[in-house]
Amino acid sequence: MRLILLGAPGAGKGTQAQFICERYNIPQISTGDMLRAAVKEGSELGLKVKEIMTSGGLVSDDLIISLVKERIAQPDCENGFLFDGFPRTIPQADAMKEAGVKIDHVLEIAVADEEIVKRLAGRRVHPSSGRVYHVEYNPPKEEGKDDVTGEALIQRDDDRESTVRNRLAVYHEQTAPLVDYYQQWAQEEPDAAPAYHRVEGIGSVDEITRKVTEALDG
Ligand code: AP5
Ligand code: ZN
Repeated sequence: MRLILLGAPGAGKGTQAQFICERYNIPQISTGDMLRAAVKEGSELGLKVKEIMTSGGLVSDDLIISLVKERIAQPDCENGFLFDGFPRTIPQADAMKEAGVKIDHVLEIAVADEEIVKRLAGRRVHPSSGRVYHVEYNPPKEEGKDDVTGEALIQRDDDRESTVRNRLAVYHEQTAPLVDYYQQWAQEEPDAAPAYHRVEGIGSVDEITRKVTEALDG
């Protein structure tokens, strides 16, 4: 299965990606996680993107497109993959179309902006695995620690409220047009285009997982 998870920052893409990837046995390709790992390593790529990410802006299309193309050429992507946080602009979506990367499903997780600010303020992450928690809505078994490894959880640099507002503005301006893009494509070329599904992202994590599974299993 080849799938795109579409949704605003904090909509729950990373949270649902964990379940979906386990269920369909496909790798999660989160461009955000890849970039954060590069920043942490202090690689050339990391140095280039650090400031942009901290401000909540988008990294250049060229850079992201080559990163993703390289990633999907790896052997573990042969049976499919899940894109989390990609494509995020029309040029990124066009690049996949032009490269002939066939996608089966686009799944939009819809959450209103006010809810997002609350979610991101309480988010904690386990950086090396990408596992996501929330201090109130999805707490770890032991406070401040990852359920699987027991390692410390951290807060992301871009989860400060002022940055979150900017990320939301960038989302509405540059990424939300992809909703129309994929819906229109599905109408015009139902055989070539990915199937489009929209799931309301408000409710418990388990409820959303159930709706996501229903949508994907048809
Ligand atoms: P990225 O890492 O992709 O961040 P994002 O899209 O802003 O999304 P988030 O990771 O913030 O949210 P999410 O939807 O995964 O939510 P989560 O499941 O964690 O990108 C970061 C940056 O990298 C960008 O700003 C940009 O600079 C750069 N970048 C990345 N990709 C790029 C690209 N393609 N092009 C250009 N630049 C790119 O959940 C959020 C919180 O809510 C958690 O605490 C969770 O526990 C909680 N939660 C989840 N579900 C529920 C629920 N149902 N009820 C209550 N709480 C819930
Ligand atoms: Zn995420």
